[in-house]
Amino acid sequence: MTDARSVIAALRRGDAPTPEALAWFAQGLADGTVSDAQAGAFAMGVCLRGLPDAGRVALTRAMRDSGHVLDWDLDGPVVDKHSTGGIGDCTSLVLAPALAACGAYVPMISGRGLGHTGGTLDKLDAIPGYATAADEARFRRVVADAGCAIVGASADIAPADRRLYAVRDVTATVESLDLICSSILSKKLAAGLQALVLDVKVGSGAFMKTAADAGALARAMVDTANAAGCATAVLMTRMDEPLAPSLGNALEVDAAMRVLTGVATGPLHDLSVALGAEALDRAGIAEGEAKLRDAIASGAAAERFARMIYGLGGPKDFVEDWTRFLPEATVIEEVPAPDSGIVTAIDGEALGLAVVRLGGGRQVESDRIDPAVGLSDVVRLGARVERGQPLAKVHAAREGQAQEAARAVAAAVTLGDKAPKAAPLVIERVA
Ligand code: URA
Repeated sequence: MTDARSVIAALRRGDAPTPEALAWFAQGLADGTVSDAQAGAFAMGVCLRGLPDAGRVALTRAMRDSGHVLDWDLDGPVVDKHSTGGIGDCTSLVLAPALAACGAYVPMISGRGLGHTGGTLDKLDAIPGYATAADEARFRRVVADAGCAIVGASADIAPADRRLYAVRDVTATVESLDLICSSILSKKLAAGLQALVLDVKVGSGAFMKTAADAGALARAMVDTANAAGCATAVLMTRMDEPLAPSLGNALEVDAAMRVLTGVATGPLHDLSVALGAEALDRAGIAEGEAKLRDAIASGAAAERFARMIYGLGGPKDFVEDWTRFLPEATVIEEVPAPDSGIVTAIDGEALGLAVVRLGGGRQVESDRIDPAVGLSDVVRLGARVERGQPLAKVHAAREGQAQEAARAVAAAVTLGDKAPKAAPLVIERVA
């Protein structure tokens, strides 16, 4: 008979708990048999001692199975994408409908902003009527009809992770490769996926600042997901400047709409295609890149997006004229460059935090988000600016906040005289 003490004691000694013991622990987290103190000791044990590969897979499976696991009976592969979080990154809004237009189904269970990074659900909340908390019946209906639906996790998706994550947050045990892997993957696998692509971000706007840290996470995620039965690849991608030129919730919906309707191209378009092609490849669909490019250029992806928005309670004609529906900030001001020069570095985390302070993200869990605020027209690395030319536009609710954000933007952008070496968006593929 397993009990919490013996699982924790095994971890303390450096002995890997058996898959049965981890399954028992995950169930105990979900049904309350395991106390918060025991959950904290478990998290610290994993953090300090680590788990062998088989243990990480067993914990991921156990957390997935601690709640409801969706299954699907559809005429195409069920696929998804997960990102470790960045700034100006609204790829999900482009990628999900583009994959749907290529014949895949995307039941995307997403999260909210974390730290300086934005969250897909907060962005979708900028669309009037959109139900990020849709029930399972509606979620299934929209996935079947539109090919994609993006919602938040219901209480019965990986409940062991919900509990353990809250405990980790207050016990300094978030930064464990084993716990990060099992946490992210348990929720994704509970959505019943056949294939998954992971975007592990590296750079000033990412949680992982170095390629070495990101590489270790990428390897662990791929190995764990594949061993747990989901065909998975990782792209490690550059996050040393915002992906789209806008940061903030309504502003990023606008950026995604511009790509979906062919008004804009650039890194957001290119990364969406690169990630989507990996997901299709893992699901056995060849020539994904060409198919995705075509899905976006032809308007087929935008049509899927329109169906998803309407199916989840948003305006029927959102795609025709999205600017009519998105909120606009009261104060919109340019940030003038303090000098002339070439943009040699951008502190992405500082830009993300400036948006949080404008009210575009949360400082504490209970904060209400202002969907209209953020930054737009952010300069790109390597661009030449003359003194007084704009580095970005600040969108704020009040003048004082706009000025504070403008100072943060000016401090976050480094001007020099030598253009930085052009670097590809995708640093490495791990599969
Ligand atoms: N996101 C998650 O869902 N879990 C983690 O552990 C880290 C990021």
